[in-house]
Amino acid sequence: MTLTVDETPFGFDPLRPGFRDDPYAVYRRQRETDPVHYSPLGMWTLTRHADIEAALRNPRLGHGVTMNGAADYLSFLTLNPPDHTRLRGLVSRAFTPKVIREMRPRIAQRVADLLAPLRGGGEFDLISAFAYPLPVMVISEMIGVPVEDQELFSGWSEEMARGIDPDFLQTPEQLVRRDHAKSEFDKYFRDLIAARRGRPADDLLTGLIAAEQDGDKLDEQELLDILALLLVAGHETTVNLIGNGTLALLRHPDQLRYLRENPDQAPAATEELLRYDSPVQFVSRFALADTEVAGRPVVAGEVVSMVLGAANRDPDAFPDPDRLDLTRQAGRLVSFGQGIHFCLGAPLARLEGQLALAGIATALPDLALLEDKPAYRDHFILRGVSALRVHA
Ligand code: HEM
Repeated sequence: MTLTVDETPFGFDPLRPGFRDDPYAVYRRQRETDPVHYSPLGMWTLTRHADIEAALRNPRLGHGVTMNGAADYLSFLTLNPPDHTRLRGLVSRAFTPKVIREMRPRIAQRVADLLAPLRGGGEFDLISAFAYPLPVMVISEMIGVPVEDQELFSGWSEEMARGIDPDFLQTPEQLVRRDHAKSEFDKYFRDLIAARRGRPADDLLTGLIAAEQDGDKLDEQELLDILALLLVAGHETTVNLIGNGTLALLRHPDQLRYLRENPDQAPAATEELLRYDSPVQFVSRFALADTEVAGRPVVAGEVVSMVLGAANRDPDAFPDPDRLDLTRQAGRLVSFGQGIHFCLGAPLARLEGQLALAGIATALPDLALLEDKPAYRDHFILRGVSALRVHA
């Protein structure tokens, strides 16, 4: 299905050919000419950094009737307090800075193991050889999925991630594949949960089962939906951080050289790459009550879409925003959202990004792009290349 600009509620057409090659020029135009776009369909689209930060912190903007069937099974991502607070609280115990710090040696080992055979190996696709398998290994290991089942996991994750886009941007076949993936996923995890009940292990699944057994805190469907959320939120986004980040570095050889010579600067470099080409481009909220957004009255029931990719390139928040500068002082990037739904996995994503990007810079010293314009994945909310043909 292709919508024209007049028909899309955003003020621009994300399905227009060429949009994905450079959405930032389109965002810039809209931020300058119509930063608080209103569609008669009852939808607002924000592109300014300050407006988006404020909207994400506005308690009257939450989740309700979504544009989006898939979001319903992505657990607390689309719930409001108090349910959101309860479920997020249970999972956040597994994502403390200490837990994540302790994962560092294992992730570093995975990075080294995946990159070693690629060095001097000629031509390959960096996404399928590295960016895709790394996060799936990390999140599966954290949850407690046996290594031999991790293949299954990535197939479902791909279908389910495509499915988080608004239903009106998808074909009926895509919607069927998404729902099929989720039911296969649930079937698999019901069995794994049953097995873990008998034989607890030192993993997140065991921890969540314990929370479930603790009275009525977490029922089995909630547990399955949390696992799906962790898989989709934690996998596809991180693939895109590594893919988009590597592409930006290869297009800016001076910056790549800087990271290669200063791998200890990987934390700041990762922040800048997250800003420059955000893996998550959009989030949206539903007005739970009448409120005000960017000085305009928003009526209960209207939808507010926020273009995170545009906010990260707003010159009022980041001077000279279209320049990639790995030494930039960290600003308030919105790539992980803001407010009560701020990305729970941000510490893990940052760590994976730092180790992966510094690993690529140092372990593949002759890395070069083989194609100028890689193809983008057919997603709207998530932004990432489907393949990155390189030479090492
Ligand atoms: C570069 C990688 C990542 C990016 C760019 C990213 C981005 C985001 C964004 C923008 C949100 C907020 C959505 C909203 O406000 O509607 C979010 C929420 C979330 N993310 Fe991430 N994410 C990443 C990696 C991860 C990882 C590795 C995990 C876990 C394994 C994770 C788990 C979550 C969860 C559970 C939420 C929902 C939080 C809530 O609703 O309270 N994310 N993420």
